[in-house]
Amino acid sequence: MIVTTKELFKYAYDNYALGAYNINNAEQTMGLFKGNVDSKAPFILQISRGARKYTDKRMLEGMIRAADGIFPEAVFAVHLDHGDEETCYDCIDSGFYSSVMIDASHESFEENIAITKRVVDRAHAVGVSVEAELGQLGGVEEDISVDEDKAHLTDPDQAAEFIERSGCDSLACAIGTSHGAFKFSGSQSLHFEIIEAIQQRVPGFPLVMHGSSSVPQEEVERINAAGGDLKGARGVDVSQYLPAAKMGVCKINIDTDGRLVWTRVHREYLRDHPGVFDFRPVGKVFMAEYAKFIASRNELLGSAGQLDAVRAALGK
Ligand code: G3H
Ligand code: 13P
Ligand code: ZN
Repeated sequence: MIVTTKELFKYAYDNYALGAYNINNAEQTMGLFKGNVDSKAPFILQISRGARKYTDKRMLEGMIRAADGIFPEAVFAVHLDHGDEETCYDCIDSGFYSSVMIDASHESFEENIAITKRVVDRAHAVGVSVEAELGQLGGVEEDISVDEDKAHLTDPDQAAEFIERSGCDSLACAIGTSHGAFKFSGSQSLHFEIIEAIQQRVPGFPLVMHGSSSVPQEEVERINAAGGDLKGARGVDVSQYLPAAKMGVCKINIDTDGRLVWTRVHREYLRDHPGVFDFRPVGKVFMAEYAKFIASRNELLGSAGQLDAVRAALGK
């Protein structure tokens, strides 16, 4: 069942965070739904602009509709990840997406507000939720590259004004994370004081943490042992997820870790089965491993076991 992120946040706020997981293909979609249903977790399915271009946006929509039928218990939002204005409108007009992210964080404060407000007006007219971003993460977001040194953390005073003037439903805050597998050059420094200060200014307002993959070291070691080269890859400490959730972070974005599961499974499988050229046996291993990974993240986020309560609250 597809619901809006706004609805999901109502039940999660200050209690647990929803996992927001990106999908690009059928194997990821199947593993994602299975992992969430197995762990009884509501979730957010994210589609990036890159994912929409990888095969075809209609292919993704078809796969998600099929998965919804295969897993009728699932409760999830369909969310555009890091949208520009044009892609947001395409998703809003499609009638399929229940939530969009407008990422105008690279614009000036005033321009970010103006763009976000235009998207909010059009989205709210048809019941679609809107996530916006203020501040800039380090690392690379699709075609926007932000030098780690120049990454700007979110200013809590600006955040309150931004939310008020743009009318967005949730806000992605820059607190020291970055996208990808190489997050911290020195020691991990997440700025929870920023989340705390924003929550004080806008109590009850859902916040979002991007760049939250943990880059499990065991996964990195297995990838490297099977011919990969990911030396120095590092991520967010998973023990930070629940404390963030208790400060109003309702959505935690995890994409890179899923790619690491894919890489480990495929590198090891092809190394150990040099004569195999059928993609289905390894695809099956990946779907099972990805489902296990998703369930394990939901345990850490606190969303595991919440599905029945959410269904009951939704009257379904
Ligand atoms: O924030 C970026 C997400 O991990 C999506 O990545 O744009 O390569 O699909 P992508
Ligand atoms: P990771 O690269 O840490 O998985 O972050 C994903 C993300 O923020 C997607 O928007
Ligand atoms: Zn992101």
